Amino acid sequence: ADTCFLFSGLIGCSWAMVFAAGGFKVKLYDIAQQQLTSALENIRKQMKELEESGFLKGALSAEQQLALISICTDLRAAVEGATFIQECTPENLELKKKIFSQLDLIVGDNVILSSSTSCLLPSKLFTGLKHVKQCIVSHPVNPPYFVPLVEIVPHPETDPSTTERTYALMKTIGQSPVKLNREIEGFVLNRLQYAVISEAWRLVGEGLISPTDLDLVMSDGLGMRYAFIGPLETMHLNAEGISNYCERYREGMRLVLNTFGPVPEFSGEIEQKISQAMSEKIPVVPKVLDARRKRRDEYLTGLAKLKKEMKSD
Ligand code: NAI
Repeated sequence: ADTCFLFSGLIGCSWAMVFAAGGFKVKLYDIAQQQLTSALENIRKQMKELEESGFLKGALSAEQQLALISICTDLRAAVEGATFIQECTPENLELKKKIFSQLDLIVGDNVILSSSTSCLLPSKLFTGLKHVKQCIVSHPVNPPYFVPLVEIVPHPETDPSTTERTYALMKTIGQSPVKLNREIEGFVLNRLQYAVISEAWRLVGEGLISPTDLDLVMSDGLGMRYAFIGPLETMHLNAEGISNYCERYREGMRLVLNTFGPVPEFSGEIEQKISQAMSEKIPVVPKVLDARRKRRDEYLTGLAKLKKEMKSD
């Protein structure tokens, strides 16, 4: 099997589990031995739990998958034999640039250098690297084990074969890759997310709806179908096809869209108000937040199972 290596934070561990589930050998690299030991322990615990509850991915048992993962604190040794490197260091441009320039010096011409960054542009990360043709962003969604989307974003100089190989690899390990033809701030996922967040913020800010009701509009309304079909297919099905939808609704959509307000400040009174409402429901205490995150992952696990059963495309 091919070898990949990663960094062992939150996202790194998730990637490791996804690759191991796909039958790939994984080398986890990090700066501190302690970090690696606890990462491995954490992965073992998660895999065992998943296996017990019947949610472990892949054809191999938890023990077999764990046997595919090794740890390493030496960058050179970690890179040895790797065909795909998924960088998962903290979201800090200078740090990531440093890591990629170190990797640039020690990798061969065939390995793919991929970054998990959620908002740094490939042109900022990879420009000037000797191996820029082999560089790409593969942006996962947290937690990648249950939310399969990966945004694949090339640098202007990325070789098309790098994009194709990354896309194919993501498919092989059971993720759901999408290709962006060029880079853009926020990629696509966060652009859509921010469009929703900003209108939510304005509506609550104007006192039109309460924060908890606003969230219900998504979780019990729009979100119900978005877990299975996207906004464009929704249009297509809500009329006799897209053209018919446009004919019927273009005026109305434009009228509504023209009433949208400016980009919010995300501070001040509105921030206070939303923060207070959310904290009443979910107090900002590590224990409570962690329990809530666990619950979120359970929801996502259930949804992933349902999607699999329903073979949604
Ligand atoms: P994290 O802080 O959990 O993990 C970062 C890891 O990098 C830690 O294990 C740390 O020890 C290691 N590290 C720090 N400095 C290092 C160095 N000089 N060399 C090697 N390793 C080093 O961060 P997280 O949340 O896993 O994020 C990693 C990346 O994934 C970021 O770029 C983030 O934007 C991206 N991402 C995160 C998502 C999330 O929801 N957390 C979602 C999608 C992408």
